[in-house]
Amino acid sequence: MGQARSRSASLRYFDRVVHGDARSVLDRLPADSVHLAITSPPYNLKVPYRGYGDDRAPDEYLRWLKEVWQTLHRVLVPGGRFVLNVAPTSIKDFRPIHHDLSRDLRDLGYIMRTEIIWYKQTMGRRTAWGSWRSPSNPHIVPSWEYVLVFSKGQWKLSGDPAAVDITAREFETFSDGFWAIPPERRRDGHPAPFPEALIERLVKFYSYRGNVVLDMFAGTGTVAAVARRLGRHYLNIDSSREYCRLAADRIRGATPPPDAPIPAPPRSFALPA
Ligand SMILES: C[S@@+](CC[C@H](N)C(=O)[O-])C[C@H]1O[C@@H](n2cnc3c(N)ncnc32)[C@H](O)[C@@H]1O
Repeated sequence: MGQARSRSASLRYFDRVVHGDARSVLDRLPADSVHLAITSPPYNLKVPYRGYGDDRAPDEYLRWLKEVWQTLHRVLVPGGRFVLNVAPTSIKDFRPIHHDLSRDLRDLGYIMRTEIIWYKQTMGRRTAWGSWRSPSNPHIVPSWEYVLVFSKGQWKLSGDPAAVDITAREFETFSDGFWAIPPERRRDGHPAPFPEALIERLVKFYSYRGNVVLDMFAGTGTVAAVARRLGRHYLNIDSSREYCRLAADRIRGATPPPDAPIPAPPRSFALPA
């Protein structure tokens, strides 16, 4: 009874689009309330996001993100998952940032579950060969991204077996860690949106229906829209008011399953006091 009351009290923070800084918003969420966080942070590659300068010194960038991951740890339920999508950096200035991020997350006590390779199938359009047909200075083109997966405290996430919605066929396909999914072509005014197919896989593989799914660098709201469509609660945080507007429209257009009526976001982009 007490547990059900505290769950419904914490749900008032969710099914929202929140305009704000990731860390400050996470700081205000109840502890142990989120089952799955999926995000793709700004990559520090001077990407022209609206209202955010994507160009910090490398150490400062990693320090800032580490603080966000630390804040997230408190908010995840025991066994809650954190999925971090990171693209390789540029060819000429290649920095293995996924190694830095994995190290930081493990330092913070996260269990690293795995690393999925998202193969984007974009080689048809390649141009950056380096030295063509010569070992002098050939280039490997980053045709993939990393999807790093962590858990808080324990491997298992408890849940109701009746709230599982992954099919046997999907389970077989998704548990092969090489995911060939083309990048999103419909950008809707955002430089780096997730493809819905990638998020669908992660949500079904790593969460139960009725769980809470969060994205704290949410852009145009792919994670929240897919979560709602699959009968999960969501929280969508972004520091750009314009992206929040786009995300809210998109989430409203995602129809939840009839037996899991996840609410559409309210008009306000604020977290309740
Ligand atoms: C790589 S994009 C995420 C795109 C998203 N996955 C999608 O499908 O549209 C990173 C986002 O982080 C946002 N951002 C940058 N700094 C932020 C901060 N301090 N707090 C919250 N969001 C931030 C940017 O506005 C940008 O939309």
